[in-house]
Order: sequence, then structure tokens, then C-alpha cells
Amino acid sequence: MRRCVPACSGFLLAFLLAFTLQLFFFSPISPDSLELPPASALPTNKHLQKVTKLGEGFLDRPEDVVVDRDGILYTAVRDGWIKRMHKNGSWENWKKIESDALLGIATSKDGGLIVCDAEKGLLKVSEDGVEILATDINDGSKIRFADEVIESSDGSVYFSAASTKFGFHDWFLDFLEAKPHGQLLKYDPSLNETSILLDGLFFPNGVALSREEDYLIFCESWKYRCQKYWLKGEDKGKTESFIDNLPGGPDNIHLAPDGSFWIAVLQLVSEGLEFVHASKPSKHLVASFPKLANLVNGVYKKATVVNVAADSKITRRLDDPDGKVMSFVTTALEFEDHLYLGSLNTNFIGKMPLNPTNS
Ligand SMILES: *[C@@H]1O[C@H](CO)[C@@H](O)[C@H](O)[C@H]1NC(C)=O
Ligand SMILES: *[C@@H]1O[C@H](CO)[C@@H](O)[C@H](O)[C@H]1NC(C)=O
Repeated sequence: MRRCVPACSGFLLAFLLAFTLQLFFFSPISPDSLELPPASALPTNKHLQKVTKLGEGFLDRPEDVVVDRDGILYTAVRDGWIKRMHKNGSWENWKKIESDALLGIATSKDGGLIVCDAEKGLLKVSEDGVEILATDINDGSKIRFADEVIESSDGSVYFSAASTKFGFHDWFLDFLEAKPHGQLLKYDPSLNETSILLDGLFFPNGVALSREEDYLIFCESWKYRCQKYWLKGEDKGKTESFIDNLPGGPDNIHLAPDGSFWIAVLQLVSEGLEFVHASKPSKHLVASFPKLANLVNGVYKKATVVNVAADSKITRRLDDPDGKVMSFVTTALEFEDHLYLGSLNTNFIGKMPLNPTNS
């Protein structure tokens, strides 16, 4: 028994050393600590628990939602189908793409959709089929992790590349690493060329144009903020703050008919585990154990969307505070006085009326 002590402690020491080496030297991330904003003062509510479920069971995690000029609603789901709902409420499998990483979609003025495929780049989907618009950037690099897209009336396409280091299925590692690996990109159809407008962004996610198209808003999930990028006027090319300290990490953003914006915000961190993001060793530990990551990741526990006016004021907030009906809501689109909600954790699109009693 006594002989075991030196041998056993030697073994234990070797084990601890190997474990530490494993954690730090073979960790998939090289993290920075991240300062999370103070908790939001806006009270939560249960409005998102009252949604009507559209296409229930037919839609596998519909991440984004758009409506075309004929009132047909589109979404891209995990098995690569672009599905659509006609005005009479019937759903159709419209076009199929070989991909499990379809994210943001936008309508195009020549008809059809522009689709972000986090693995392939930017695609055009129309009645004629699927066409690749862009896979490369004009600096010779590949488009990585295309996330959300919007087309302007002059045909230019603005989109985000959330991370040049991690892919869609590893987005949580990008969050743990908390380094600015993202880009804001522009695809020019007349040149068939993609250029970088901004880089060094913290997981740029949603992209929306203002009603006058004089600026766009892009949202940086890890910074709980959205910024304004001027497209016209004397500030053209400049970036300024639009909104900071959102009540979560912003995902997709959509322009509303009144010129305000609907932003889906993610509960990125489980309540009480915020400290993990301030400590590099904890991040290495979490990055190495998927079960720990599931514990720390709060996106499946809640859903929140906010309406932000063009003057940057939050005018409305809608929640499912315990994720009972909807969680991981990634998008909110307003159409004909209703809100349509997409999610990476539901098999339906939520729909709710936007009348004053909900505010
Ligand atoms: C709904 O509209 C679509 C498109 O016009 C049509 O193909 C479909 O048959 C209609 N379904 C029902 C149940 O009326
Ligand atoms: C445009 O460029 C992409 C690569 O980014 C290429 O795959 C595509 O074929 C090009 N399209 C045309 C019309 O040349």
C-alpha cells in the first residue's frame, strides 16, 4: 500500500500534466476574454409563447424567413430544401440544394432568392434552378461562412461572412475564442466579383438596408451590438454605432415597413455562467468538452426579439423567457402586421399579430 504512494502520485502527476497539455496545446481555440454587457433593464414577457405554428413538422430549423412581392413566404431548412408557403397557407418543397448549412436568404429584384450557404458561398435560386453566384473574394481567398444577405435596388449584394476561422457547425468555438474573424462583403453582379467592405468583425451576422438604402446595419453577435455602415452621402464608407448593449447576441436583422428594424437576439450564455467568458482556462476547458459547451451555451433556453427604431431606440421586446414554445429564434420578419419568426431549434415558423395589445 505504502509503496503505491510515490508510484500513484507520479502517475497522477503525469496524468494531470497530460491533461493540461491536452487542454492548452491541443485546444481548438486561442481565446481572448470577452466582456459581456450588463444585464438588460428591459423587462421580459411571454409574447413569443403565443405564436401560431406554421408548417409544423415540415420545417427543420428554419433559420431565416423572407416574403417575395407576391406574398409567398420562403425559408431554407437543414436538409437543404428551400420551402415556401403560398398565400393560401399550403407549403411546397421548392428547390433543393446539397447542403446542411443554408442560412440567410434575400429576395432578388429579378425574382428568385439569394441564399447564403455557409459552406459554398452565395447562391442564386430561381424557377430555373440553383446557380453559384460567388465562392471567392477578389483578394484570392474563399468566402467562408456566408451568414446573411440583402440585395440593394442597384443590384449590389451585401452579405456577412461570420467567421473566416470556424465553420457553421463550430460557431460556438468562434464565440469562445471571441476574436474578430468576420467580414462584411459586397458582391457586384456586373463584375461578378466580391470585395471586402470591412473585416476584423466579431461574428457579423444580420445585414439589413435602411429604407432609403443610404446605410446598412450589420450586427456583431459576440459584441451584443449592431453598427451602421454608410453607403451614400458624405459619410460613405464610414462605420458608426447603431445600437450597443442589446439584451443578447444579435442574429438576423430585417427592415420593418415603418423604417425600424427587427433584430433576433440570442441568449448566448446560460444564466450564472457568464464568468466562463472572462477566463481563458475555462474557455479551453469548455472548448475541449462538448458536454460542458452545451451547459454554457444558453441559446436553447430562451428567445428574444427586439424592434429598434431608426433613431436606435428599442421600442418593443418580445420573449419566450424559458424557451417553452420557441428558443434560439434567429430571425424576425414583419409582413402585413404580423411577425414571422425563424429558429435553429424549432420545426415550424412562429407567426404572431403585431397589434398594440402586444406591445
Ligand atoms: C394553394 O396555392 C398554390 C399556388 O397557387 C396551389 O398550387 C395549391 O394547389 C393551393 N392549395 C390549396 C389547398 O388550395
Ligand atoms: C462568377 O464567379 C464565380 C466564382 O466566385 C464562378 O463560380 C461563376 O461561374 C462566375 N459566374 C459567371 C457568370 O462568370
